[in-house]
This record gives sequence, structure tokens and C-alpha cells, in this order.
Amino acid sequence: MGTYNDQRFRPLIEIGDQVSISERVHITCIERIRIGNRVVIGSGTYIGDHHHGVYRGPEQSRPDTPPAFRPLGGGGPVIIGDDVWIGDNAVIIGPVSIGRGSIIGANSVVRRDVPDQTIAAGVPARPIKQFKYATSQWERICADGPKDTLLTPDEELRDSRA
Ligand SMILES: CC(C)(COP(=O)(O)OP(=O)(O)OC[C@H]1O[C@@H](n2cnc3c(N)ncnc32)[C@H](O)[C@@H]1OP(=O)(O)O)[C@@H](O)C(=O)NCCC(=O)NCCS
Repeated sequence: MGTYNDQRFRPLIEIGDQVSISERVHITCIERIRIGNRVVIGSGTYIGDHHHGVYRGPEQSRPDTPPAFRPLGGGGPVIIGDDVWIGDNAVIIGPVSIGRGSIIGANSVVRRDVPDQTIAAGVPARPIKQFKYATSQWERICADGPKDTLLTPDEELRDSRA
């Protein structure tokens, strides 16, 4: 989106090679959206890097300003890694990054970063499985467990060589 009311933007949407975008996908950008190579985006998915108005931090939007007249903002870049599969009707609102090889479940709302090779699902989307090269399995992640149950890519590489 280049202009909105009196706002001016220089949006950048980058789409990699061999990307598949299904029907009714809505991508709206005022800043930056990057879609990696070989990404598959299910139908009805929304990807955006802003809101109608700002609802945290300084200078928040007021309810007596009609939504269409609130400034676009309050979001941030969306970075989707290579080989990501996004299920139907997902909603992805920046700032957020989805790591390489990860999967977003159908109808999920993504508001937090998703690590590499991780399945995230639900509203809000949470990691439910992560691929382990040592076992060649997508292994369950305990929702109530410590966050360090998720391996970093370096740990994954070490794991795969073990
Ligand atoms: C994300 C997905 C790939 C996970 O498949 P899976 O690993 O076989 O999932 P499981 O059946 O093992 O589910 C594991 C848990 O996650 C939950 N879950 C799976 N997908 C979910 C989703 N989209 N939203 C919320 N929860 C989900 C399951 O209910 C289950 O929870 P439980 O153990 O408490 O019962 C699949 O559910 C999905 O959403 N696929 C997308 C389908 C689609 O949109 N296709 C067209 C797009 S091109």
C-alpha cells in the first residue's frame, strides 16, 4: 500500500521462487513482507504487517476515531522462511518470523515467532511439534514445558550429527 489517507509508505513484498499461493489469500503491506522459496500458502490466508490504528505504546488510537481514519501501523515485518507450509485460513500479523521448514496449522493466528522446522497451531499459534533429525520424527512439544525444549538450529544440527 503506497498511500492511505495522508500517510505515505514504501512497502516491500518479496516472494521467492516456486511459491504456491492458493485462492483468496490476502497480503497487505506497508513496510516489509518476505516469503521464502518454495513456500505453500493455503487458501483464505491473511498476511499483514500493520493494523488500522495502534493499540499499545504511546499515541494509541481512540475508539471514537472511525477505524478507517486511524493511521495504519502498530505492526512490523513478516519474514517467512524457505519451505514453509501455511495451512488454510491462517492469519499472520507482523512483527513475526516463521523459520525455515516450519508448518502453520489451519485456522491458526500467528503473533509470535516460530522457530525452524516447527509445527505451530492454534489461536494464538503455539509450537506443537518440532522435527528432530536424530529420529527423523516431528516430536511433540509439551505446551506447559520450559521454552528450552525447543532446540536452536545449531543444537538441531548437533543433534542430527549425534
Ligand atoms: C498442523 C497439522 C499439519 C498438524 O498435523 P499433525 O501433526 O498430524 O497433528 P496431530 O493430529 O498430531 O495434532 C497434534 C495436536 O495439535 C492439535 N492441532 C493440530 N492441528 C491444529 C490446528 N490447525 N489448530 C489447532 N490445533 C491443532 C491437535 O488437535 C492435537 O492436539 P491434542 O494432542 O491436544 O489433541 C494439521 O493439523 C493441519 O492443520 N494441516 C493443514 C491442513 C490444510 O490447511 N491444508 C490445506 C492447505 S494447502
